[in-house]
Amino acid sequence: MEWIPIAGPWVTEKEIQYTADAAANGWYANANVYPARFEKLFADYHGVAHAVSLPSCTSALHLALAALDIGPGDEVVVPDATWIASSAPVDYVGATPVFADIDPLSWCLDAAALERSITPRSKAVIVVDLYGNMPDMDAILGVAQRHGLAVVEDAAEAIGSEFRGRRAGSFGDAGTFSFHGSKTLTTGEGGMLVTNRRDVYERVLRLRDHGRQPGDRLFVNHEIGFKYKMSALQAAFGLAQLERIEELVARKREIFGWYARSFAGVNGVTLNHEATHIKNTYWMVTALFNPSLGLRKEEVIDALRERKIDSRPFFYPLSSLPAYRDRGGGERWTQQNPVAYAVTPWGVNLPSGFNLTPSDVQRVAAAVNDIIESHPVRSPPVGSS
Ligand SMILES: Cc1ncc(COP(=O)(O)O)c(C=O)c1O
Repeated sequence: MEWIPIAGPWVTEKEIQYTADAAANGWYANANVYPARFEKLFADYHGVAHAVSLPSCTSALHLALAALDIGPGDEVVVPDATWIASSAPVDYVGATPVFADIDPLSWCLDAAALERSITPRSKAVIVVDLYGNMPDMDAILGVAQRHGLAVVEDAAEAIGSEFRGRRAGSFGDAGTFSFHGSKTLTTGEGGMLVTNRRDVYERVLRLRDHGRQPGDRLFVNHEIGFKYKMSALQAAFGLAQLERIEELVARKREIFGWYARSFAGVNGVTLNHEATHIKNTYWMVTALFNPSLGLRKEEVIDALRERKIDSRPFFYPLSSLPAYRDRGGGERWTQQNPVAYAVTPWGVNLPSGFNLTPSDVQRVAAAVNDIIESHPVRSPPVGSS
């Protein structure tokens, strides 16, 4: 039996040719040709005015917050269930993350929970398009507008997803993307920031290059900034992937279709939701085990590994992690974010790489079924009849 990995890209001759061309020619006066082409096509694809290529989505989130002047004393609302890269940049700029609850179906930020989390210190919200799904953007933008919050959309996992026909990442004051090797579109490591705001764009260009003005030839630094740039080699690879984006997104949705069919007969497991007004690109196909089965995610992951299948846990609530736990408020978060604490123990990301075949997916479904059926039925509590 072959090992089935969790994630991985789809690379064709096109990526190899573009990257080889960048390796041979992307220097001297041509150093910016591939980054500029990648950024232009990326902005056009998302229907936004500006795109800036970066080394990661984490750096894109950092720059977005810095460009929006978020800093010490400010609070930024972040959904409690996401990767820590969504919230760590809040600390980078000296602000405080406030964790809000998620919606039980989309697993993304809940608009009412966002509103409950707002205090006089709230300055921004980071909205996360988790696992390729999207939250109720209409409701979230409404809350943000009523309370004067800046909106940063973390679309790291959701390139190609849509809410009412509008692409993920294009909703806020800034949107951010990841091109890590596990993502739908990859450059190995990499990221992009998009925005319609000229002021944010200009500030990001300056901040990502040690405070230099774009075009500066005298190495004059106007402020202390960062060094966050993408190389021509990565941009060439990314451009080739972006020219194939329809194909990449279609394959992600096809893989989910294989899962939906294979899991139709598996009782007690729910897969990712897709509301009628949303196009979900299913970055990670995720199985939620009914709590009545008593199968926690860690147990499922171990059992899948024994069957040579890789998987990952649904993100733990950020507020429960050692990185944040010591800041206090443990009880506060479990009570304030009951959905995040109820959903996340039972979720497992299943293999979602581009190298999957329909028979791999059937093997995963059969393994999950076997794990459920061989799990000892919990004995009834003592004293019950
Ligand atoms: C929701 C989310 N945000 C941000 C990131 C950070 O992306 P990067 O690894 O490119 O910094 C990731 C990456 O996995 C992510 O899943």
